[in-house]
Amino acid sequence: MAVLSIKYKFPENFWWGAATSGPQTEGRFNKKHANVFDHWFDIEKEAFFNGIGPNVASNFYNSYKEDIKLMADIGLDSLRTSIQWTRLIKDFETAEVDEEAVVFYNRVIDELIKNKIIPVINLQHFDLPVELYDKYGGWESKHVIALFVLFAEKCFELFGDRVKNWITFNEPMVIVEGQYLYQFHYPNLVDGKKAVQVLYNLNLASAKVIAAFKQSKCAKQGGEIGVVLNLTPAYPRSQADEDVKAAAFVEDFFNKSFLDPAVKGEFTPSLVQTLQADGVLWESTPEELMIIKNNTIDFLGVNYYQPRRAKSKEVAWDIEKSWMPNKYFDDYEMPGRRMNPYRGWEIYPQALYDIAINIRDYYNNIRWYVSENGMGVEGEENYRNADGLIEDIYRIDFYEEHLTYLHKAIQEGSNCFGFHAWTPIDCWSWSNAYKNRYGYIAVDLATQIKTIKKSGYWIKNVAKNNGFS
Ligand code: GAL
Repeated sequence: MAVLSIKYKFPENFWWGAATSGPQTEGRFNKKHANVFDHWFDIEKEAFFNGIGPNVASNFYNSYKEDIKLMADIGLDSLRTSIQWTRLIKDFETAEVDEEAVVFYNRVIDELIKNKIIPVINLQHFDLPVELYDKYGGWESKHVIALFVLFAEKCFELFGDRVKNWITFNEPMVIVEGQYLYQFHYPNLVDGKKAVQVLYNLNLASAKVIAAFKQSKCAKQGGEIGVVLNLTPAYPRSQADEDVKAAAFVEDFFNKSFLDPAVKGEFTPSLVQTLQADGVLWESTPEELMIIKNNTIDFLGVNYYQPRRAKSKEVAWDIEKSWMPNKYFDDYEMPGRRMNPYRGWEIYPQALYDIAINIRDYYNNIRWYVSENGMGVEGEENYRNADGLIEDIYRIDFYEEHLTYLHKAIQEGSNCFGFHAWTPIDCWSWSNAYKNRYGYIAVDLATQIKTIKKSGYWIKNVAKNNGFS
């Protein structure tokens, strides 16, 4: 029998999985508290594409069994989802739990394990309880960090016997950008000084959760904890000094601000210098900085969708204006760049190679995995063929291109142990709601009927062969 040779073969035990989150899939069924997005939808439906909010999402609360079965059917071996703080906890100050929620998350975890899918559990996916924002200013407050640690400890205690892979935060930088700078997360503030404090507080919160994890039984039995960062490599418009400087600031502020403390336990000196000179540096204590120093991650998750391109400022920053990171750069729209027109994001697969090599060379070659990568497309119903199959060839091409660059970096020694697509089943995406679909599996919103797309059959093969040709 001819042996099929696989051109791009991945390391043994490589994860072929997918990622999603509680607030984007479960729906609000039986949930006793609102997170910031639930609340935003309750007060301003028009802010969401087609007025669709998180109330039903993809109905995972009710259909988790069937959904997990479908994930197993397409060969996924691991799934990242999140536990919602606003579901699990009844009283935020004491971390008293809601028993119904405990039952639900236990069932989800058991069902995953039964289907041979490794559960990777994230503790925070943009779903801050709105009460904690109203009462304390959310992530601006160190008291809220303490409450988040209580919630995390509860999770380790309740589920740590079966969940061995934990994540503290998904894309903490997006909280800073969305909530405090660029107005795409409730309450849509524009406040550079607060943004910088929140950036620091989120790093501290992650380190404190890691410290708590180390004390848990789960850690003592070999469990591990990491963080998921959206790394958007910053490429300068040109090699001219001014452009290179602009891109270096973007790198410091949007990538290294979380990557350095998470892996090395320290903030980037050039970032600290700039923020200090501008009078906007965060408030910290020596004790807190020691906590950050001593509680770095076991592994890293990298979400990659798009690069950033920067150039020097066209018009000098008006110093009368309050501080914003944009003081130091302009975004650069590179002529001829390849775009995903639906999401408005550039497609640049080479960046995944650059990220991998950067981790290898400057971040101790830490063990890492691609925790999200994917392509959101509008109107996928148009690609349904006569047999009812959505032929999402563009998605398969997108993944193969990214995986080719990832494979090359692994060949060159980058310590990557897995690839998670965003997302297994079409899910709700914040203010874009169900505009762009990302799943291997489609959901019909009217009926909640779920069907495997062509890419679902593709990943099944890739997982089976541990690679592709
Ligand atoms: C990521 C985020 C996900 C998902 C995805 C696609 O930034 O982590 O929650 O929404 O974008 O839009």
